[in-house]
Amino acid sequence: MTIRRKAFALLAANRRTTDGHTYTVPSPDSYPYQWLWDSCFHAIVLAKSEPEAAMEELRALVSKQLPDGMIPHIIYWVPGDLHRYEWGLDGTSALTQPPMLAYAVWEIYKETHDDAFLAELYPALMRYYEYLIDKRDPRDHHLAGIINPDESGEDNSPRFDEVLHVPSGISLGDHLARRLELVDANRTCNFDAESCMKKYFWVKDVPFNAILVENLRTLEHISSLLGKEDGEHFCKLNIELISTAMRDRLFENGVFLSAASSEYVPLRVATWAYFAPLFADLYTPEEARALVDKELLNEDTFWAPHGVRTVSKKEKAYRPDGYWRGSVWMAPHWFIYKGLMRYGFTEEAQLIRDKSVALIEQSGFREYFDPETGEGYGAHDFTWGALVTDMMDV
Ligand code: GLC
Repeated sequence: MTIRRKAFALLAANRRTTDGHTYTVPSPDSYPYQWLWDSCFHAIVLAKSEPEAAMEELRALVSKQLPDGMIPHIIYWVPGDLHRYEWGLDGTSALTQPPMLAYAVWEIYKETHDDAFLAELYPALMRYYEYLIDKRDPRDHHLAGIINPDESGEDNSPRFDEVLHVPSGISLGDHLARRLELVDANRTCNFDAESCMKKYFWVKDVPFNAILVENLRTLEHISSLLGKEDGEHFCKLNIELISTAMRDRLFENGVFLSAASSEYVPLRVATWAYFAPLFADLYTPEEARALVDKELLNEDTFWAPHGVRTVSKKEKAYRPDGYWRGSVWMAPHWFIYKGLMRYGFTEEAQLIRDKSVALIEQSGFREYFDPETGEGYGAHDFTWGALVTDMMDV
């Protein structure tokens, strides 16, 4: 079977229907629930060949939108205790994840031209992005904050070690315990992001904000197609405000760095977050060229035989087999691939696509991979590998 057929077979095998909602679990053995950005990836992959399934996936997600507009990062459709941690609410988590939803909706629209689907999802989309902009930016500085590392989608990344006050060699178990402590702390302020952030964990994360900008761009198109002038204006304004704030507050020596607290303490750990703003066109062409030459293609930092390290090899936190501590993950590969294509770095993008395909051929649909050897680790039958099909469609 070709990789493409295997990827679609995996998505079909991981598809579940509960209470009339159809969604895809990232891995039956390790992640048997629905996750926010994972579902967006699934929808992006399915958009071209199975748009109905892609639509169902997103409908299931928005069906659990909270009254304040937030969309939870996990939906526990089926009761069970496998890897089920209490993230704050009954049946869902009280955290969110990088806001890829508008992008995923747009990918489906590009294939189907289904105006009714756009109109159906539009209110939920607007409420979600309004929530991120209104509630996640308590000082009105135009950067959305995250209240837990899990909201970055990179649960265990060393980018957050300083803020969590943990050593770089921390075990996975101790790290998870620390993040769950944070959930308990947030419970005391009712997960009201505006007040919780200031007290416990408040990071203006680079990939999250870059993804927000790019998603507002697609939401702007959607608003314009539906003739929603207020929505269009909201998106246009916030794209500008967030991009400018990222430049003013997060840009240092040629790269964007995440920052913590009201003091904007720069989190100077070199991670793939350097490359995430390429996805949203936030570097100038000259900056992008320098970044690609100095960091992306640099074998001493990010460029490895089997892919792009999620953490620079020079960092003391770097572990080739570490969970988000250097290992290769397919979603960062996909974001970097898209970013490179956007800037016209076609050859470099193709190298990433080839390395991604080779990893799956060597180690299967695993959760993460050793950048030096290509060995697969973590969950089996993990859906992120299906993103390679989207890199092949060019
Ligand atoms: C892990 C990843 C997270 C993902 C989840 C489900 O927690 O770090 O990004 O959403 O698994 O696949």
